[in-house]
Amino acid sequence: MATRVASVRAFAKLNLSLLVLGKRADGYHELRTVFQSISLSDRIQLDWTPGARWAVEATPEIDNNLAVRAAELLRDETGIRGRLKIHIEKHIPMGGGLGGGSSNAAAILLALPTLAGINLPIARLTGLATGIGSDVPFFLDGGTALALGRGEELYPLPTPKQRLAVVVTPGISVSTPEAFRALKRGPLDALTFTELSNRIKNLRGMMSALGVSLVSGSPDWREFSENDFETAVFERHPQLGEIRERLAQAGAMPARMSGSGSTLFGVFSSQKARQRALKTLDGARAVKFVSMREYRVAWLRALGEHKVGNAWPPHSRYAKSK
Ligand code: C5P
Repeated sequence: MATRVASVRAFAKLNLSLLVLGKRADGYHELRTVFQSISLSDRIQLDWTPGARWAVEATPEIDNNLAVRAAELLRDETGIRGRLKIHIEKHIPMGGGLGGGSSNAAAILLALPTLAGINLPIARLTGLATGIGSDVPFFLDGGTALALGRGEELYPLPTPKQRLAVVVTPGISVSTPEAFRALKRGPLDALTFTELSNRIKNLRGMMSALGVSLVSGSPDWREFSENDFETAVFERHPQLGEIRERLAQAGAMPARMSGSGSTLFGVFSSQKARQRALKTLDGARAVKFVSMREYRVAWLRALGEHKVGNAWPPHSRYAKSK
């Protein structure tokens, strides 16, 4: 059968705010985070040839490639057979807190069923995504979202009106499990109601400001941004704290670390302010916040001839039954 080809963009994310509340019985940490898709992206080319046998090949070689894992999970879940070639043109720095590997995995979960003629409901895709990594489910929807639990329980939010940012990724790789350990968080169930309430005070402020609650005279969401990993990670890598300081001096608001690092980002309220900052910051890259609508439009466009309509997740034109 003829090969079906798609070229898609796997967008990176930032954590506009990130709280680590405590350790859960399952060993993961209970999070409160606001994810934001950004325009920085990897380009993934998929070539799918339906056939009787399964084969997957990914270039270039990437250790523990989550895109391959996603393809194999789909095979196990749906019984699809054929030859899949995945080529990833990497632009999202790896191990940088931008979710590159997770985004690649979600890209396969969105694109492969469409090419292979299978329509999976979002709940099944989310189940597969959660099995790959805590922040993979976010990339099935993109945009702006509050995430609870391990990071997989998602609530869409309006995208902030300030959408211009810069990211700086120094060549430092921070191990996520180590960063969690360094926080030395106690058991979640030992948190008293008052402690919990105090911890999430800022986040409640941010939710109100983003328009979720009916609190009148909304303050500015940017004042409530925080990242619990910063103190411990900056202690270990002081140069990261210095970059955040330089971003703040260049007028970024907020100037933050994303995830467990090492990427720092800054949000700007005008092109001009961002342009000035780009000139003074070595290695800074301009990015834009991507809303959920823009995310879907980009995806549906990329899947072009292979999908029908504008349903989400995309509907395959090769599917025999709904
Ligand atoms: O879920 P994922 O495989 O991306 O997580 C990588 C590691 O990060 C986990 O093995 C765990 O050590 C840590 N983690 C955590 N709590 C979370 C998410 C990740 O402790 N909510």
